[in-house]
Amino acid sequence: MDKSKIPTEQRAALALLLDDHRAVKKLFKQFEDAKEDADKQSIAEETCRQLTVHAQIEEEIFYPALRGVSDKIDDMLDEAKVEHGVAKDLIAEIESGEKEMLDARYKVLSEYVGHHVEEEESELFPAVIRAKVDLADVAQQLESRKSELLGETA
Ligand SMILES: [Fe+2]
Ligand SMILES: [Fe+2]
Repeated sequence: MDKSKIPTEQRAALALLLDDHRAVKKLFKQFEDAKEDADKQSIAEETCRQLTVHAQIEEEIFYPALRGVSDKIDDMLDEAKVEHGVAKDLIAEIESGEKEMLDARYKVLSEYVGHHVEEEESELFPAVIRAKVDLADVAQQLESRKSELLGETA
């Protein structure tokens, strides 16, 4: 999704979420390229931290702002909620689970999150743009909540 093509009213909010998606995809790639267990472990921890904050700001601020806009968007939000739940279970397993299972769990997490991100970017975000939802305030709320949460986990 090309940020410059997003209308002004939605641009800042969607750009913030798109940047989060890019950052996590970069971590997925870094994990794939990592050779040492210690590197994999720290990349996995950072991935879990970023995904947890991203999911939380979407759930607290972004998704509620879209509730009721249309039946189609409501259906997508329901699906997103279920997908976040599955991702959180995987994150919890990665954070507390056995080291031998890290590669397998991380692989499943990256595939699963890749699918969810793809749906947001190809279905949800375009629907939000088509519905002309004004996200200017939402952008500010996402931004400040994100820095607050990242500060807490630093
Ligand atoms: Fe999401
Ligand atoms: Fe997202």
